[in-house]
Amino acid sequence: MLKNPAPWWESAVFYQVYPRSFADSNGDGIGDLPGITARLDYLADLGIDAIWLSPHYPSPQFDCGYDISDYTAVAPEYGTLADFQRLVDEAHRRRIRIILDLVLNHTSDQHRWFQESRSSRAHPRRDWYIWRDGRAPGQPPNDWRSIFGGSAWTLDPATGQYYYHFFFDRQPDLNWRNPEVKAAMFDAVRFWLDRGVDGFRLDAIPHLVEAGHFRDQGVEFSWPEVDYSLRTSRDPRERARLYRMSGRIFRYQSHQPETHALLRELRQVVDAYGDRVLIGETTNIRYHGNGQNELHMVFNFPLTRSSQMSPPAVRANQRVRLAALPPGAWPCNTSGNHDTSRIGSVLSDGQHDREKTRLAAALILTLRGTPVLYYGEEIGMTDRALDDIGQLRDMVAVWMHAYAQTELGMSPAEALAYATNATRDRCRTPMQWEPSPNGGFCPPQSMPWLPVGTNLAAGITVADQSADCDSLLNFYRRILALRRNTPALQAGDYRPLATASRAYLAFLRTDPASAQSVLVALNFTPKSRRIEPGLPRTTGRLLFSTERAHPQDIRLSNLVLGPFEVMIVDLTPANE
Ligand code: NOJ
Repeated sequence: MLKNPAPWWESAVFYQVYPRSFADSNGDGIGDLPGITARLDYLADLGIDAIWLSPHYPSPQFDCGYDISDYTAVAPEYGTLADFQRLVDEAHRRRIRIILDLVLNHTSDQHRWFQESRSSRAHPRRDWYIWRDGRAPGQPPNDWRSIFGGSAWTLDPATGQYYYHFFFDRQPDLNWRNPEVKAAMFDAVRFWLDRGVDGFRLDAIPHLVEAGHFRDQGVEFSWPEVDYSLRTSRDPRERARLYRMSGRIFRYQSHQPETHALLRELRQVVDAYGDRVLIGETTNIRYHGNGQNELHMVFNFPLTRSSQMSPPAVRANQRVRLAALPPGAWPCNTSGNHDTSRIGSVLSDGQHDREKTRLAAALILTLRGTPVLYYGEEIGMTDRALDDIGQLRDMVAVWMHAYAQTELGMSPAEALAYATNATRDRCRTPMQWEPSPNGGFCPPQSMPWLPVGTNLAAGITVADQSADCDSLLNFYRRILALRRNTPALQAGDYRPLATASRAYLAFLRTDPASAQSVLVALNFTPKSRRIEPGLPRTTGRLLFSTERAHPQDIRLSNLVLGPFEVMIVDLTPANE
């Protein structure tokens, strides 16, 4: 096979580690960096190529680390800078890259910059944040909303002005129009690049810059309710309607043209270090710029939804997204993250859950683009129901709980159900390593920061599944190993076949550099399905199947897919 000349991140598989929940090395109930380092062999063995580390910086943890109080240090509960360096070095030794989570939009209100900014109207850092006078006594400057509920403006009595925050009031937005802010943040970027990190996942990228005119948006809808429906609705039409609404609600607060100019500058900073990557927390393809000058990748978020997990929906998703990519841009598919319901729960309806989870994994790992996996999905971790307000750590849910009672008039029990139904805590519970109390995440006598899942005894642990060759974990291992050795699965183009089928998805991945062509066929139903004629060859080499022995040569005429079968066949002529 020819060597694949693409950059490393195009062929890599990323794995998101939520540091608080991955592995606790010192028994305080909070995951930490030495805990992650100690589990690197597990990740190497799983077959991933890169870690996306969610925020590891000092933070008051009002938004689980997405409220940073120092951009060039490590949260004491996670370890030290030396622990961080050890993690990077040990990961690199195993050929695993590390990208960090970079929160550019806002800092914590505890950050020294904000403390100084709020101290007086005359302070040199005043303009590092966005301060405005109210439009009348007791009234915020305009009708802009916080995406976490309520006004985006908070009055700071010390100086009598309002500051702007797209997220919580504890997360004031930086003023990116101020060149000193840019310089300070770019220095922070270089600080980590100098320590060898391989890139960044960029948080909340569409909201970096706001419209400079500060005009009212004329908000017609109640955002908290739209938000709640977005967090809970599975109906694709309803979701599309809600997204259109949210675009209107935040039209001056998001997607401003200046953000693109800023990303072009950030790209230059990062490119000066060579082979590093930027992945934006947005699904909007415009953030690729011309394909070379803004973000390397943006997430294909719709695939995390059950409504998108059908052959017609996946084909439509691919058709639209791949056609929209500018030349040179590369897709990125993901099945979940710390903000959404886990894929194992999204797809679960009590019937064939195991098969559906396998299918979702196979899909993400075989479509054209870089896959980003979420910790624990490889063992089938599911959302954990929280039934007590005292267990909630996600302040969005705590806010919703209060809102449901005060604004929606719900009873305390209804409000609790409302909040626990939407909380992000459900997908952030500790990694389940073994079937012991606390799942091997922390010692049995410790109190984990979030309760461990309730399905340890059902075999949803690394230890149980390592020992079972039919487990989901071993399915992931096998398909990851195959992907690594199959250039067409990493670099190939995407050509859909049998485009009328509602039952199965079939597509070709062909890589011109290696001349390899691979058929992927995924049956989304519990019935056997005959693949329509139209395959470019009559025989092939079966590389992978959930139903039959492989590798083996197979005939492709009259090919019948078994129930929920995942099949990958090499069609390269030499194999005929
Ligand atoms: C997106 C992050 O993924 C989410 O967890 C966080 O609350 C917001 N951005 C604010 O940083």
